Amino acid sequence: MTQYRVRDPDAIGVAVIGCGRIGLVHAANVASIPNVRVVVAADLDPAAAESGRAVTKAERATTDPLAAIADREVEAILLATPTDSHAPLIRAALRSAKAVFTEKPLASDLRATRQLVREWRNTGVPLQVGFMRRFDPGYVAAKRLIEAGELGRIEQFRAYSRDAQMPSLEFLHRSGGAFVDMSVHDFDLARFLVGDVIEVFAWGSVLYDDRLNDLPDVDTAIVALRFANGALGVVEMARHSRWGYDIRTEIAGVEGKVIVEASNKTPITLSRQGRSELDHFAGFEDRFADAYKAELNAFVEALAQGAVPAPGPDDALETMRVALAARDSWHRGRPVRVARLG
Ligand SMILES: NC(=O)c1ccc[n+]([C@@H]2O[C@H](COP(=O)([O-])OP(=O)(O)OC[C@H]3O[C@@H](n4cnc5c(N)ncnc54)[C@H](O)[C@@H]3O)[C@@H](O)[C@H]2O)c1
Repeated sequence: MTQYRVRDPDAIGVAVIGCGRIGLVHAANVASIPNVRVVVAADLDPAAAESGRAVTKAERATTDPLAAIADREVEAILLATPTDSHAPLIRAALRSAKAVFTEKPLASDLRATRQLVREWRNTGVPLQVGFMRRFDPGYVAAKRLIEAGELGRIEQFRAYSRDAQMPSLEFLHRSGGAFVDMSVHDFDLARFLVGDVIEVFAWGSVLYDDRLNDLPDVDTAIVALRFANGALGVVEMARHSRWGYDIRTEIAGVEGKVIVEASNKTPITLSRQGRSELDHFAGFEDRFADAYKAELNAFVEALAQGAVPAPGPDDALETMRVALAARDSWHRGRPVRVARLG
């Protein structure tokens, strides 16, 4: 295993691959980092590739992601293609010794995730996974308080995530399902803030879009968690919410609790005629705008300094095991120990 070094820390050549909803957010962010030079934007859809090129002011656009990875001027890949294409593209990047920032998850199933993590371990290539909430100022502060012992022994964890808009059916088909695609962010927070999860019990329903029954998938779910340290938790999920993007996390300990929630998008509440009004975040793009910037800054800084970026493949694998245990529990209708997945 060789130590990975970029050629010039002041001008790191990047390829943006996948220029859809989140890809364009990442593209704009990475292009604004002073020591990044976006060489190429790639997407199977030529119009999307061109949007990526325009946003990043990249030198080229292409519909061939493998050519972008192989490009000699490219030293790092920013991957934001659909979930089921992550594993082969990450593998191609690792084989070309190109650093990778990838959207979550690493792969669609556990076997492919394990295989990829094994391959990555032998390469020494930096690989960061897009669990952006770890970079949100609220979660950063919560982590600091917990580590400083301000809450005492942690007893309970509660998180809910409600997306404002259902994604397209095409996206849902390729997403791995609600537990893997959406609740995975809350499972990652559970592990980040409390510790390893050893058992889950999931219930799911289709209450909003009957087409999910055919996948099969759910649009509404609750997952009970049992942590290795004895703490207990609940993760709630809804694929849509009429009142806006709705994310809240609460961690309670013997001495205190913290709540991470950004309820007002604009810091103003209008009260009149016995009612109060505030605005909500529209989606992940505005609620986690700072976190998306911070995670890419951290990735590029790690590359420039020859450091190991985080969260990495081991976190992605462990969180995937929890998500798949939840999906399994929903199928079986009973609790599932995470160790059961092997
Ligand atoms: N971290 C987050 O908050 C967050 C938010 C949204 C999406 N995501 C993840 O990001 C990924 C992309 O999601 P999205 O909502 O942006 O999807 P999207 O469908 O909007 O965009 C995907 C883009 O990738 C292109 N594409 C498809 N296959 C490709 C391939 N093999 N090579 C190159 N381009 C290809 C498509 O043409 C499309 O432009 C998913 O894995 C999803 O789980 C993460």
